[in-house]
Amino acid sequence: MTSDLDSLQQLASACAACRRCGLAEGRHQVVVGRGNPRARLLLIGEAPGAQEDLEGLPFVGRSGQLLDRLLQSAGIDSNRDVYICNVVKCRPPDNRKPSAAELAACRPWLEQQIALVDAPLVVLVGATALQGVLGIKGGITSLRGQWRPWQGRWLMPILHPSYLLRNPSERPGSPKALTLDDLRQVRERLAQLPAPL
Ligand code: URA
Repeated sequence: MTSDLDSLQQLASACAACRRCGLAEGRHQVVVGRGNPRARLLLIGEAPGAQEDLEGLPFVGRSGQLLDRLLQSAGIDSNRDVYICNVVKCRPPDNRKPSAAELAACRPWLEQQIALVDAPLVVLVGATALQGVLGIKGGITSLRGQWRPWQGRWLMPILHPSYLLRNPSERPGSPKALTLDDLRQVRERLAQLPAPL
């Protein structure tokens, strides 16, 4: 019988051969995911940047390092507790936002990945993930930090770490402080989940 882990491997191989959109032309590598594929928390970001494209792993550049630090400060271990991926698996040129067509082309890969990881909690990292997963354009500042039921899971949008890098204040009420509060909420809900079978 094929396990979900084997299936994630198969998904990664299929993604590596993907030419469903023009981003295939400029990529060094397809960036599928990192972390624990059995984690109960799935983080979904936007798209690989330069460093991710070189290493073949999501969130390993400056944004990713900040994300890891915020997760750690909230008591979430980014290797043990989380599986991380993006709505788009190939780097858009000059780190531009993925187009609606690119989001749509990559959507079947994301849907398979969500089903295979099967995490009860999903965090959408930034406005593009919010658009790519829920189809909601804009409104991340008012929607962040709020849980919503989604396809039998609980989902929360948070601000993107690249925005936090541009707004580094840690004062109470700052974007960074709010994101830490949001991630603490995530950690609490993780801790409340019933033990896995
Ligand atoms: N790196 C990623 O992998 N995803 C993002 O959304 C940003 C940087």
